[in-house]
Amino acid sequence: MQRSVRLKSFELFARDINDVDVALLHALSISVRWPHRPKDWDLLRRAGHGIVAVDGIGRVFGSAMWFPHGNDFATIGLVITTPRTQAQGGGRWLMDQVLERCGDRNLALNSTHVAYPLYVSLGFTSEAIVYMRQGEAPQALSSMPALDGDLGDLPNDTLSEITALDARAFGTDRARLLALLAEDASIATLSRGGEIVGYSMCREFGRGFVIGPTVARNDQDAVHLTAAHLKKLQGRFVRVDTRERDGVFAEFLQQSGLGIAETVTTMSKGRRFLNRDSNEPWVYGLAGHALS
Ligand SMILES: CC(C)(COP(=O)(O)OP(=O)(O)OC[C@H]1O[C@@H](n2cnc3c(N)ncnc32)[C@H](O)[C@@H]1OP(=O)(O)O)[C@@H](O)C(=O)NCCC(=O)NCCS
Repeated sequence: MQRSVRLKSFELFARDINDVDVALLHALSISVRWPHRPKDWDLLRRAGHGIVAVDGIGRVFGSAMWFPHGNDFATIGLVITTPRTQAQGGGRWLMDQVLERCGDRNLALNSTHVAYPLYVSLGFTSEAIVYMRQGEAPQALSSMPALDGDLGDLPNDTLSEITALDARAFGTDRARLLALLAEDASIATLSRGGEIVGYSMCREFGRGFVIGPTVARNDQDAVHLTAAHLKKLQGRFVRVDTRERDGVFAEFLQQSGLGIAETVTTMSKGRRFLNRDSNEPWVYGLAGHALS
């Protein structure tokens, strides 16, 4: 595998993402109008691995990250090249580096429209649309379905109570990622008969807050778990990434002022990623665009 690539006047080299100043990563994401703060990059760097494309004097022109879960799965994200270097082969080169490092892991990612042809050409196939919903949390929530169970708060040092539930919904154990997210998140739970049947995290991200992951058994439960956070965020900017196109949960988000800002496509390579089973819990809100 080639270790450098020449882009017109640029020769870029791959460096570990931990070896560059977070301010350079922040400038990179701003260049493509992504909302990540330096703190968000720091969290992502702790959650996974990544490379940056740098020139001979250390300027950053691109990035790509991967987040391994268990022994045989990883999600990919933060694939960025600066506008001035785009369409010159840098994105493909970054992805080749990532695929080499991920070996034979099964992979999933959420592709933007502009990146879609690149991922198709690398063997990724489409599974679902993700609706990136955002807006200001309303002063009062619209009418909600009946609550079946008891809502509560999970102290973030008792995560073991939700990791098995999450693995059933996500398809792979991601306890390490949940522990990292929980450091700065509030966690709502829904219990029935003394058993936790759903949970939802909310943490600061980008321009405001992201509500996710949200794992629930049905739309009604997902509404109540999400509402538990929205009630505390009146007037604040909130984002929810969901694969629910319609139904009670999607309608609730719409009525709560969280309109669809953009869509991305969940894609996988290797084993199928999304395997919905009506008897099992489901991921109603994603942990984040890059984290799936
Ligand atoms: C997506 C992105 C990383 C691609 O990076 P890039 O450096 O432009 O990628 P490449 O030059 O290697 O091009 C890869 C493929 O994209 C397509 N492509 C790139 N630029 C294109 C353009 N201007 N018109 C049409 N197709 C284009 C081509 O299919 C190309 O394939 P090829 O190698 O067969 O020509 C970059 O556009 C970007 O950072 N976009 C904003 C952030 C983003 O959406 N990231 C993706 C997150 S999932």
